Amino acid sequence: ATSEQKLMTSIQAPVAHSGSKVTIVGVGQVGMACAFSIMTQGIASELALVDVMEDKLKGELMDLQHGLAFLGNIKINAGSDYALSAGSKLCIVTAGARQREGESRLNLVQRNADILKGMIPKLIQHSPDTILLIVSNPVDLMTYVAWKLSGLPKERVIGSGTNLDSSRFRFLLSERFNVAPNSTHGWIIGEHGDSSVPVWSGVNVAGVRLRDLNPAAGTDADTENWGQIHTQVVQSAYEIIRLKGYTSWAIGLSVSILTKAILKNSRNVFAVSTFVQGIHGVEQPVFLSVPCVVGENGITDVIQQTLTDGERAQLQKSAITLNEVQVNLVL
Ligand code: NAD
Ligand code: LAC
Repeated sequence: ATSEQKLMTSIQAPVAHSGSKVTIVGVGQVGMACAFSIMTQGIASELALVDVMEDKLKGELMDLQHGLAFLGNIKINAGSDYALSAGSKLCIVTAGARQREGESRLNLVQRNADILKGMIPKLIQHSPDTILLIVSNPVDLMTYVAWKLSGLPKERVIGSGTNLDSSRFRFLLSERFNVAPNSTHGWIIGEHGDSSVPVWSGVNVAGVRLRDLNPAAGTDADTENWGQIHTQVVQSAYEIIRLKGYTSWAIGLSVSILTKAILKNSRNVFAVSTFVQGIHGVEQPVFLSVPCVVGENGITDVIQQTLTDGERAQLQKSAITLNEVQVNLVL
């Protein structure tokens, strides 16, 4: 008998796959920040990493595995074969080109759509009941592309959307209020990035609304210039890309929180990109972020926020702009 056989008396074979398997496609800066965040918080029991770069995959795999003695036992696999992703409850897509300094997210659209064309059918082949969480940019358009390519019901295809923009917003607001970011509430909806819409009427601490303290907050008439915070949110990614070349940690945490909500069926509400035709007067078949209830079967409900006419108009304008790009995509 081997030492392993002498160590234990086998009663039965262990189960091959647990119920909380997550695949991450793309092991670049974003994919690895997602993997690290999911791993350190003990959210998934199994992680599969898929990319086209074999050496990078192997290096990242070894590096993560060498930390497992400090955490719970997560089974991690990595490789370029999509069979590794089989049986995933959630597939997170972070593969693709990122913006260069000064470049807009929309510039990436056909390049990244072409990458999704090769990947989404393979993910679905191996995990037909999966939920897709799309992060690659431009995320709202890539979520539409993934939905079209996957054949999944729309509620199972989710874009990371303005969950990140909302988190940036809450952090910047929290600095002005001098309270913790997670005690500062506020929502950014619409397009992730340039044409995102801050819902000033909802900004509050402990239910005390900023708009009740300063009815002009977020408008041109505001002498306190709260609107500057939204400008900063929009500029954030450009600024970080100029300074460090890419954004990673905050999106990794944003994705890990969404992953947790899905795997634990938590029914938390997040601003994520979903099919918004018919919501807030949007007429086009596009994906944009609105607050959604998220659980094990994806998005179950959309929260009906009370928006001003201006906010609805901004959302509708983003939908028109996105649709103009969307109809020209070659899928
Ligand atoms: P990166 O260049 O560091 O990594 C991209 C990875 O994708 C690479 O490892 C590459 O090998 C892989 N890849 C490329 N083609 C592939 C294919 N066909 N199959 C499998 N893997 C493939 O880029 P990054 O900084 O990690 O950014 C990734 C994407 O995430 C970009 O589109 C970026 O704009 C986006 N992003 C989105 C958000 C958001 O909030 N939605 C935030 C940050 C970044
Ligand atoms: C972000 C990316 C670049 O960090 O979309 O906002």
